[in-house]
Amino acid sequence: MYEEVAEGRGRGEPALRLAGLSGSLRCASFNSALLREAAMLAPPHAHFVLYGDLAELPHYNEDLRGEADPAPVADMRAFFAAADAVVIACPEYNRGMPGVLKNALDWLSRPPDPPLYGKCVLLIGTATGGMGGALAQYQVRQVLSAMGAIVQPGREVALPYAADHFTPELRLRQESDRNFLREAIERFCALCHTVRPLVSL
Ligand code: FNR
Repeated sequence: MYEEVAEGRGRGEPALRLAGLSGSLRCASFNSALLREAAMLAPPHAHFVLYGDLAELPHYNEDLRGEADPAPVADMRAFFAAADAVVIACPEYNRGMPGVLKNALDWLSRPPDPPLYGKCVLLIGTATGGMGGALAQYQVRQVLSAMGAIVQPGREVALPYAADHFTPELRLRQESDRNFLREAIERFCALCHTVRPLVSL
C-alpha cells in the first residue's frame, strides 16, 4: 500500500520520484504528518509517494531469505528501487531510532542491488522532546552511510516539542515551520539533480 501525495507537474526540471518512509507505526504519528507536509511542500517537479507497509515487515532474519525475500520485503525493496531519492521521517526513541525503522533499513541493505545504495536521502523528524529527534537522526545517518546512501548534509530538520507544532488535524501550525521544511526539500531536490548524473555514470 502506498499513498500518492503530490503529482509532479514539471517546470523544465526533470521529474524526481521521491519515496517517503516514516519510522512510526502510530496512526496519529507526528513524523508521518511531517512527511505528508514535506510532500505537499515539494517543488512541482517532485512526485512524492509514501511507503505505508512498515508494520507488515517481518523481523530481519537471515533464515527468511531463501530463493526470494518474503513478499512484504520484496514489495518494499521494489518500492524504493523505483524511487530517485528517499525522504525518511525519523521518530526518536531513547535517543535512537525506533526498532521498526532499523529493521526496514536492514532489509533494504541486503544484496543484490540494495535499493538505497547511491541514492540521495533526506532525514527529517520531530519529537516531543526538546531536541526534536536530532540524536536519532545521527544514528540513521550512520546506518545510511554504511548502506552507501548519500545523506543530505547540513542543518537538521528536527522539530522539537512536536505536540505544540501540530494542530489536532496533524497539520503544521506555523508558516515558519512550513517555510523551513520547504527550503529543506528544495535544497534536497537540488542535491538530487546534481548527484543523479554522477551516480548513473
Ligand atoms: C519516546 N519519546 C522521545 N522523545 C524525545 O524527544 N526523545 C527521546 O529520546 C524519546 N524517547 C522515547 C522512547 C519511547 C519508547 C517512546 C514511545 C517515546 C517521545 C516521542 O518523541 C513521541 O512519542 C513521538 O510522538 C513519537 O513520534 P511519532 O510516533 O509521533 O511519529
